[in-house]
Amino acid sequence: MISKEQLTNNIPQHVAIIMDGNGRWAKQKGLFRAAGHENGTKAVREAVEGCAELGVKYLTLYAFSTENWNRPKLEVETLMKLLVKSLKKEIDTLHKNNIKLNAIGNLDLLPAKAKKELLEVIEKTQGNSHMTLTLALSYGSREELIKTIQEISIKVKNSVISPHSINEAVINEHLYTKTLPDVDLLIRTSGEQRISNFLLWQIAYAELYFTEILWPDFKQPDLFEAIYNYQQRERRFGKTSEQLS
Ligand code: FPP
Repeated sequence: MISKEQLTNNIPQHVAIIMDGNGRWAKQKGLFRAAGHENGTKAVREAVEGCAELGVKYLTLYAFSTENWNRPKLEVETLMKLLVKSLKKEIDTLHKNNIKLNAIGNLDLLPAKAKKELLEVIEKTQGNSHMTLTLALSYGSREELIKTIQEISIKVKNSVISPHSINEAVINEHLYTKTLPDVDLLIRTSGEQRISNFLLWQIAYAELYFTEILWPDFKQPDLFEAIYNYQQRERRFGKTSEQLS
């Protein structure tokens, strides 16, 4: 088992997680899916604490995708209620630990109560600097890219920018993630090996880590294992090994 002390060098600056497997976890135990999500919130706490202790500066969690709106109404309501409950419960801990909350996605689609609670926690913690915790809520990468292209097109049409000045920085400035650096490490739990419309632009050079562990069972030793695995990799960003050394 990897301990925290073994991980001091080369901590990824930005870790993103696709928290998958809540439903299967519940099914295996003969419980309702809601119990999987409820226990998923405990794993969220573990991941937040673990990343904060290691010195990860940005943690981004895929909490609810644009596609998740198509789930049964009752499950969507359960997830939204859990979000409100977790925000209320964790606001003081986040603040005490100097963690800043941020959200990406089409937040206007959230129920009024969830949006209000979210914005309150974001407001209360906006001056914090130890780590930025970003919740992707009603988030889809394609929706984000469409929004970005629309905004840039309007600027081109109004001659605010010329088409030739569009570069990576201009695109970054229009994404929901404009205040975040690129993802270094993307983790997906539950054995699925796909990206599911998450941060497509931002993971261009991320290291991908897939684990069979279902999200509610993903504890700090599992996070440390993922980070240790990341640290063994050589990130070449298109260069040769020799160029790096
Ligand atoms: C995927 O499991 C998980 C989700 C769609 C929601 C993630 C939500 C939480 C962990 C709880 C609330 C989060 C916060 C930030 C308070 P799944 O339901 O797709 O599982 P399955 O693939 O096994 O069915």
